[in-house]
Amino acid sequence: MTQDEMKKEAGWAALNYVEPDTIVGVGTGSTVNHFIDALGTMSDKIKGAVSSSVASTEKLEQLGIKIFDCNEVASLSVYVDGADEINADKEMIKGGGAALTREKIVAAISEKFVCIVDGTKAVDVLGEFPLPVEVIPMARSYVARELVKLGGDPVYREDCITDNGNVILDVYNMKITNPKLLEDQINALPGVVTVGLFAHRGADVVITGTPEGAKIEE
Ligand code: 5RP
Repeated sequence: MTQDEMKKEAGWAALNYVEPDTIVGVGTGSTVNHFIDALGTMSDKIKGAVSSSVASTEKLEQLGIKIFDCNEVASLSVYVDGADEINADKEMIKGGGAALTREKIVAAISEKFVCIVDGTKAVDVLGEFPLPVEVIPMARSYVARELVKLGGDPVYREDCITDNGNVILDVYNMKITNPKLLEDQINALPGVVTVGLFAHRGADVVITGTPEGAKIEE
């Protein structure tokens, strides 16, 4: 089974968490694209979606799913999104697709975060995948210097402007043994919009696509 087939397995299994007549929170990425395909099969049974990126919005609209502005919605019963890494406490690194800020906002208004991954995303310690940090452009160099003090090696992501008009620093060589503390430390730096650590608001359910089918941890 290819990695993409495992992503598809996880994406379609997440449909079980979607309740009819609700607005669904939708993340971003190649695994989520499979979930969106699945969601398209029940487009007439849901009210619509709150989307975490321009890319997901376009795909949802192509399938006839109505998009709601996040400001119109007080809460969502479920948010489905992928991850770049996830540990046993369901804490994640996200933002490989540069959608971390909107993803964190939609996750924050959701009662249940369903994380869909293939088996390559599970790790004991977060940090092998470079940690994305979305930064206001004028703060890029200052934040990079502060990230070095925190033990990382930040690299400016070339040719990447986020949906919010900001830039991304990818922080290499972090062994993240206390994800909640690091999330707080990086969030506290002036100029940081969002750090791609989802530790305070981790996942509630993890669906892992495997050759033996979707494995579910609640
Ligand atoms: C985008 C994300 C994605 O969820 C993450 O990058 C995983 O992507 P994929 O499903 O393509 O492996 O955080 O900002």
